[in-house]
Amino acid sequence: MCGIIGIIGTKPVVPLLLDGLKRLEYRGYDSAGIATLVDGGLERRRAQGKLVNLQNRVEEEPISGMTGIGHTRWATHGRPNETNAHPHASDKVSLVHNGIIENFQELRAELDAKGQVFQTETDTEVVVHLITNYLNDGLSPEEAVHTTLKRLEGAFALAIVFAGREDLMIGARRGSPLAVGYGDGEMYLGSDALSLSHLTDQICYLEEGDWVVLDNNGATIRDLAGNLLNREVVQTAVSGAMIGKGQYRHFMQKEIYEQPAVVGDTLHTFFNPLARSIQLPDFPFDLANISRLTIVGCGTASLAGMVAKYWLEQEARQLVEVDIASEFRYREAPLPDNGVSLFISQSGETIDTLAALRYAKEQGQKIISVVNVPESTIARESDMVLPTLAGPEIGVASTKAFTTQLTVLACLAIGIGRAKGTITPEREAELSSALTEIPSRITEILNTDEIIRKISADVSEARDVLYLGRGNLYPMAMEGALKLKEISYIHAEGYAAGEMKHGPIALIDENVPVIACAPSGPMMEKTISNLQEVHARGGQIILFSDEEGVARAGDIAKHSVVLPKVDPFVAPILYALPIQLLAYHTAVLKGTDVDQPRNLAKSVTVE
Ligand code: AGP
Repeated sequence: MCGIIGIIGTKPVVPLLLDGLKRLEYRGYDSAGIATLVDGGLERRRAQGKLVNLQNRVEEEPISGMTGIGHTRWATHGRPNETNAHPHASDKVSLVHNGIIENFQELRAELDAKGQVFQTETDTEVVVHLITNYLNDGLSPEEAVHTTLKRLEGAFALAIVFAGREDLMIGARRGSPLAVGYGDGEMYLGSDALSLSHLTDQICYLEEGDWVVLDNNGATIRDLAGNLLNREVVQTAVSGAMIGKGQYRHFMQKEIYEQPAVVGDTLHTFFNPLARSIQLPDFPFDLANISRLTIVGCGTASLAGMVAKYWLEQEARQLVEVDIASEFRYREAPLPDNGVSLFISQSGETIDTLAALRYAKEQGQKIISVVNVPESTIARESDMVLPTLAGPEIGVASTKAFTTQLTVLACLAIGIGRAKGTITPEREAELSSALTEIPSRITEILNTDEIIRKISADVSEARDVLYLGRGNLYPMAMEGALKLKEISYIHAEGYAAGEMKHGPIALIDENVPVIACAPSGPMMEKTISNLQEVHARGGQIILFSDEEGVARAGDIAKHSVVLPKVDPFVAPILYALPIQLLAYHTAVLKGTDVDQPRNLAKSVTVE
């Protein structure tokens, strides 16, 4: 989603702004722009599409300046064209915004009535005109911004500069993340530490409702009432090195191939291989006494939560609810005494997940989060953080973040089961052995890459694809469909195999690939009979199973991929791999933008 960078500098600012925007690209965007302060005025360059278009614009018509702001825009209000691209500006003010100004229509009507002419279709432009009007009324920049902030409803992170004031930048945060960076005679604003990692590792994360006035030497942070605040400056662990694709064609491919390593790293944080037992950190509550665990996330993260529900119910006999954050946050769900809520998020900034967390907190729940960015807002607002050690995930499609989330959740399920006495030491050793084998099993599955690439030729020609799974592989069917949809733009549905007869079977004909995740185990026979029903109706079956499952299915599958036989407990972690590879190769064949698929953002910071 939109990315922000701001620099009060001592060097030419344009290359630094562009470098920062490059680091924000992963969030997903459809236009970009920069503005600098030059000779008492403001200069802007903006372009629709990829950053290279903006770079070309800047080369054609260079701009100078030591202070400036930059933005990658993911359109919410107004088409993704150059006019609507940020920064927005008047003759006095220029600003960039991430979020949605919910009362922009009322504000726009008010400004219209005063004769204000609007240039864009965006919600953001009202903020420019409000500040400008207050400046025209004689208020100082600080007073004009403060007065404007009081009038805004909705979510925003803002970076604002003023013509003729190279030594001043104002930022504000409500709902959308914003970090302040400290340099040597320079100060910065950025959506995250990554965007500032080429400039500084000294970061202060603004809290909800904070606004900040920067000059070359520091920052003054206040709340909306104007009270001075003290916020900690931390040394971020985020590296300044530009993250590269190495020898891989896409970040997604690289991230798929990183999984043996990052799943292994994550496992070692929660697992003692010598003792063959799970080692969780000390929780600020009793794991044996959780009345109900409410798991919440969005997209792939919520599907990781669905897998965890199977593990926690079956192994730990733990009562679990799973919900998607956008529904949970408004449903006013009653939450029980001694309840714990668990939030899963790669970015740790997803606005719906964050709002759901705050709701659960208000309801007296203890908060656990499983996040990949340890400095994120969700991590900071949790009672307990269980980190995934996936490293930066740049591809919009979640791959290594998902399998590391599953790894953490598997360890948590075993830990809760042990605390409750539902998992014996023998069972724990058994499950631990299965977990230990995962990195090498993933490597084996990566060896099927070429087979899956060939199968993707069939999938790439389909208009609709159906994914089926049962038990803890049912969420994987949904994940497979989500992955295919988001990067190849092919319509796909993930269904519980047993539910197929209740509707989706009507879709099946010889043009619909049906992809089944069906390892041998307690559910295999049932899934195979569902596949017989698909076969009888001419559906093309693509089967992911182990040798036993493939043999049992006989010749009903058009394509089979033989995966290693594993304990059914860990099967979801491993079956994530073939569905990722299949989506990846299908998208490559379709020629889509694999790492930054259309309309999608990596970090979804607006509702
Ligand atoms: C998955 O491939 C997605 N791009 C998406 O569903 C993602 O998992 C979701 O937006 C949640 O993001 P988060 O983990 O950063 O909260």
